[in-house]
Amino acid sequence: MAGKFVTFEGGEGAGKSTQIRRLAARLKDAGLTVVITREPGGTPAAEAIRQFILTGRAAAMGAEGEAMLFAAARADHVQNVIRPALLRGDWVLCDRFSDSTRVYQGAEGGVAPKMLDALEHMAVGGTRPDLTLILDIPAAIGLRRVRARQAATGDGPDRFDSEQVAPHERRRQAYLALAASDPNRYAVIDAVHWEGDVADDIWRAVSARLLMETN
Ligand code: TYD
Repeated sequence: MAGKFVTFEGGEGAGKSTQIRRLAARLKDAGLTVVITREPGGTPAAEAIRQFILTGRAAAMGAEGEAMLFAAARADHVQNVIRPALLRGDWVLCDRFSDSTRVYQGAEGGVAPKMLDALEHMAVGGTRPDLTLILDIPAAIGLRRVRARQAATGDGPDRFDSEQVAPHERRRQAYLALAASDPNRYAVIDAVHWEGDVADDIWRAVSARLLMETN
């Protein structure tokens, strides 16, 4: 039996990692095997590409060059982690996936949809998400959370974190447009509320769309 592939998308500070952990715990309680992973990353080679991009060293390559790097990392990740897990029948919860490239390098970076289609075809093939949860939060609130987290942990901003409200809000609108284009594939989750309530909303979306078929 094939597993289920669920991706989490949204702006910085939307609480994706917390919500992935919460969903994983609920799925495990339901007796399912869960793999948690992230992009860019998930394999040693893809994590090296992550370092290269997030420290800003790939910026000089431009948005197209970065899109190719994200796709190369994704191809390795799909081939070595995601597809094998799905074939075993596991659930894969992935923090960001192709939609991040669509939004950050496409809508925001200006990379042409045709190039993104080609890269996605090569990197992902038929391994498309069964469900993509878009954690939606106004840019100003998300950014405030990121800054608070950085102050608490002492981490500096990464290449994308250091940007201001306007690009965050543009990306938010790009995610909402993607969701509107395919309501069966996407669920928009209001991520402003307390994390327990957000987790309940996510659980409702996942159960309604994916668990009914599993049982
Ligand atoms: P990360 O620290 O994982 O950010 P977050 O906590 O917001 O998920 O860094 C990943 C960054 O890389 C994030 O700012 C979005 C960006 N990104 C792209 O631009 N394109 C992509 O295809 C992916 C996967 C991520």
